[in-house]
Amino acid sequence: MIEYRSDTFTKPTPEMLKAMCTAPVGDDVYGEDPTVNKLENTISQMFGMEAAIFCPSGTMTNQIAIKCHTQQGDEVICDKVSHVYIYEGGGIAFNSGCQVKTVDGDRGRITAEQVQEAINPIDIHKAPSRLVSLENTANRGGGSCYDFTDIQKIKEVCLTNNLNLHLDGARLFNAIVEKKESPKDYGEIFDSISICLSKGLGAPVGSVLLGSKEFIKKARRVRKVFGGGMRQAGFLAAAGIYAIENNIDRLAKDHLHAKQIADALLKKSFTGKMMPVETNIVIFEVINNYTAKSLAEEFKKYEILVTPISPTQIRMVLHLDVTEEMVRKTISVIEEL
Ligand SMILES: Cc1ncc(COP(=O)(O)O)c(C=O)c1O
Repeated sequence: MIEYRSDTFTKPTPEMLKAMCTAPVGDDVYGEDPTVNKLENTISQMFGMEAAIFCPSGTMTNQIAIKCHTQQGDEVICDKVSHVYIYEGGGIAFNSGCQVKTVDGDRGRITAEQVQEAINPIDIHKAPSRLVSLENTANRGGGSCYDFTDIQKIKEVCLTNNLNLHLDGARLFNAIVEKKESPKDYGEIFDSISICLSKGLGAPVGSVLLGSKEFIKKARRVRKVFGGGMRQAGFLAAAGIYAIENNIDRLAKDHLHAKQIADALLKKSFTGKMMPVETNIVIFEVINNYTAKSLAEEFKKYEILVTPISPTQIRMVLHLDVTEEMVRKTISVIEEL
């Protein structure tokens, strides 16, 4: 099977498994797992941030961040298709007792003007605006990337209005590689950043939350309360270290593969509107003879798995388990259909 449903399907390579099996470990709830500590230090130094905490999932790192930045009854500002809002089980309300003000952004990206407009005045009738959450790259935006200057403008608005700024960077390295950016620039601007190791970077499990020492101290308590304190987690953190050391630059290959597949799709009469392909995600509308479901079924006959994300749209995600040869095969199948 050629797996395009998500970049979460990657399996550890023998080299990654070897790094996992041979990792020195301890009890991470006691702060004594040397491999977890190494991962946290490596990523926090990379971003120039004071501290980091390793967690089981990106949902947990986002939800811990939101919990630490807010009080019950506060309002969180984010794009209407943000993962934190649509795909985390109502966690903002469930875990933090906050409400959300959604912004109608452009493929998952919002502007400083929209943030400014979304901020509530100080008024007893209104929920205090407390946090802005951005997503880069934006999953439902088809892997779209922010222009860094737009993030800087949003930061200005946050500073003026005393709002915290969180980044859901599940696929931040895809943006960094594609736009040739520096992790430290992100570290300077955001109050907290969540990075997933288990997507395009190819680790089987795990995400890291970055922030100030004070913030991460708070996050450690919240992680425990959420049930996310792991013991010999170094076996998993070792996969994350391997991913950081070996799998960042190669993300450019996934982006190239995504563009090659997009080009093949665009020549077909069943392809309607396609979101601009900026990184490793291709989202396109299915028209004419197929529905999203029937085209996905057709692909399956050729051992190609894709996701119909709505009745009219298909999503394909590139990652390190999709080889050049698999991309060639996919393109010839598309040409045949
Ligand atoms: C943008 C974004 N944020 C957060 C997550 C959550 O990550 P996890 O599946 O590890 O909870 C995902 C998962 O697909 C994602 O795409």
